[in-house]
Amino acid sequence: MVLKSVAVLWMCIQAAFSAKNVLFFAADDMRPELTCYEGPDFPSPVHPPMHTPNLDALAARSLLLKRAYVEQALCSPSRTALLTGRRPDTTHVYDLVNYFRKVGGNFTTIPEFFKINGYVSAGMGKIFHPGVASGHDDPISWSLPYYHATIYWETNDNSWRAIPDEDLQAKPLVDFQIKEQALKTLRSFSKGGAYEGSPFFVAVGFHRPHLPFVFPESFMQYYPNNSIRLPDNEYAPDGMPDVAWSDYGELRNYGDQAKLHASGKINTSLPDDDVRALRRAYYSALSWTDSLIGEVLSELKTLGFDNNTIVSFWGDHGWQLGEHGEWCKHTNFELATHAPMMVHIPGLTDNGIVTEQLTEFVDLFPTLVEAAGLGTMPLCPDVSKDVQLCREGESLMPLIKNPSGPWKDAAFSQYPRDQDNTKIMGYTIRTDQYRYTEWPKFTYAPEYKPDWTKLFGMELYDHKIDPEENKNRAKDPGYESIAAELSKKLRAGWRQSLPPNQGL
Ligand SMILES: *[C@@H]1O[C@H](CO)[C@@H](O)[C@H](O)[C@H]1NC(C)=O
Ligand SMILES: *[C@@H]1O[C@H](CO)[C@@H](O)[C@H](O)[C@H]1NC(C)=O
Ligand SMILES: *[C@@H]1O[C@H](CO)[C@@H](O)[C@H](O)[C@H]1NC(C)=O
Ligand SMILES: *[C@@H]1O[C@H](CO)[C@@H](O)[C@H](O)[C@H]1NC(C)=O
Repeated sequence: MVLKSVAVLWMCIQAAFSAKNVLFFAADDMRPELTCYEGPDFPSPVHPPMHTPNLDALAARSLLLKRAYVEQALCSPSRTALLTGRRPDTTHVYDLVNYFRKVGGNFTTIPEFFKINGYVSAGMGKIFHPGVASGHDDPISWSLPYYHATIYWETNDNSWRAIPDEDLQAKPLVDFQIKEQALKTLRSFSKGGAYEGSPFFVAVGFHRPHLPFVFPESFMQYYPNNSIRLPDNEYAPDGMPDVAWSDYGELRNYGDQAKLHASGKINTSLPDDDVRALRRAYYSALSWTDSLIGEVLSELKTLGFDNNTIVSFWGDHGWQLGEHGEWCKHTNFELATHAPMMVHIPGLTDNGIVTEQLTEFVDLFPTLVEAAGLGTMPLCPDVSKDVQLCREGESLMPLIKNPSGPWKDAAFSQYPRDQDNTKIMGYTIRTDQYRYTEWPKFTYAPEYKPDWTKLFGMELYDHKIDPEENKNRAKDPGYESIAAELSKKLRAGWRQSLPPNQGL
C-alpha cells in the first residue's frame, strides 16, 4: 500500500516536471497547398511546385491529417469550433459578429483549458476572430496580455502587393511583428526569462495568406510568371444550384479589383492576367508564412524546448483561387472546407505519420488534451450549453497508433445563406468517395434547426471520377440510391458517423 502511494506520488512529480508545452500555430485562409499534401488530396491539379520547406519538415515529424475538414469555411465559425471543440450548431457562431459565450454557452477553450491546468497561456496575432466576434480575443483564455501587431502596409486599396524587402525594415509587415513577438515570448520561458520553468501554451496566429496578399517581394522568386497557370475549370459545376454560389465580394471590394467591375456572378470570371497575378501573390504570401513558422520552430529548438513541446498547425479553412470561377471561402465546396492540419507530439510522431482518414477541426481540442497527458474529454450530450468542458470531435491519438484504423466515416461542414430574406443552411458531408450537400431552410434562435422538407438545392460530387467537383450528380438516375443513402447520413448528423464504440 505504502509502496503504491509512493509510486503514484513519484509519477505525479514526474508528470509535473515533464509537462509538455504546446506551441499552437494558425494561418489564415491557407488551403492545403503544401508540398507535404501532394497526392490524391492536393486541392488543385494546376499549381506550381510549392515552396513550403518548413511546414513540410514539421509534417515529416507530425501526424499529418491529409483529409481534415473545417466545420464552416469562414474565420470566426471555424476558429470558434476548433477552439471550443464544438460545432456551429452548438456554438451558434455562423458569422463574424456573434460571440460564442453570448450565443452558445460559457465553454472552456483550448488556451483556457491549459491556463486552468497551470500553464501560462499567451496569444498573438489572429487566433480567435478579433473584435466583437470573440469579445476582443476572449480575455479569459489568456494568462498574458494579448498581442496585436501594428498595421503599416495592409490596406483595402490593393488585393495584393509585393513590398521590396528593404522597405520593410523600418515598417515591418504584421506577420513579421507577430513572429518577433513569438520569439520573445518563447524566450521568456527559458533560463533567466520572466516565466522560466512554467509550462507554456503559446498561440501564434499569422494573418497571411489571407487577403490582402501583402508579402516581401523576394518571395515571388519561388513562383516565376511562367510557372503560374489558370485553373482548368473556370466554370461552375454542371447542375450546381444557385444557392451554392458565393459572389466573392470580399475580393471584389479591394480597390484594384473594384476597378475591373467583375459581377461575381456564376460563370463569369476575372481577366486572365488578374487571375494569374492573384494566384502568384497567394502562393508567395503562403511561402512567406511558411518561412515565419520556420523561424519560430528554429527558436524553439535553439531554446531546447523542441523535444518537450507539442506543436500543432492548422489553416482556418480552404480557399478558392479561381477554380469554378470562384474566389475566397464562403462555400461548401471541397476547396473551401478542406484545410491543412498537423500535430507534432514528441516521442510519438517523430518519424512522421500520414493518415488519409476523414478528420474534422473539432478533433484537435481532445487531441491536445490527451497528448499533454491531461486526461480525456467527455463527449458532449445532445444539449451542452451548460457543460463547460466537452467535445464534439474525437481525439486523433488512435490514428497515431493506427493511421488507417477504425474511424469516422464522414466529415461534416455547413454554410449559411440568405436568399430573398429566407434563411438557409447548407449542410455538407465528405465521405471517402463523395461530397453530398443539402440546402434546407433554417430557423435561427432559439431553435437553430433546419427544415429538411424545404430544400433549396442538393449537390452530389463523385470524387472518384470528378475530384474537381465539376458535375453535380444529385439528380443523376445512376446515383439515385447513393444520393438517398448520403441524404440519410447527412440528416442523421455527426453523432451517427463517429468511430465504432464511440458516443454510445
Ligand atoms: C464562465 O466560466 C468561467 C470559468 O471558466 C467563469 O470564471 C466565468 O465567470 C463564467 N462566466 C459566466 C458569464 O458565467
Ligand atoms: C456554367 O458553365 C458550365 C460549363 O459550361 C455549365 O455546365 C453550367 O451549366 C453553367 N452554369 C450556369 C448556371 O449557367
Ligand atoms: C509577372 O507578373 C506580374 C504580375 O503577376 C507582372 O506585374 C510582371 O510584369 C510580370 N513579369 C514578367 C517578366 O512578365
Ligand atoms: C530533451 O533534450 C535534452 C538535451 O538535448 C535532454 O537533456 C532531455 O532529457 C530531453 N528531454 C526529453 C523529454 O527527451
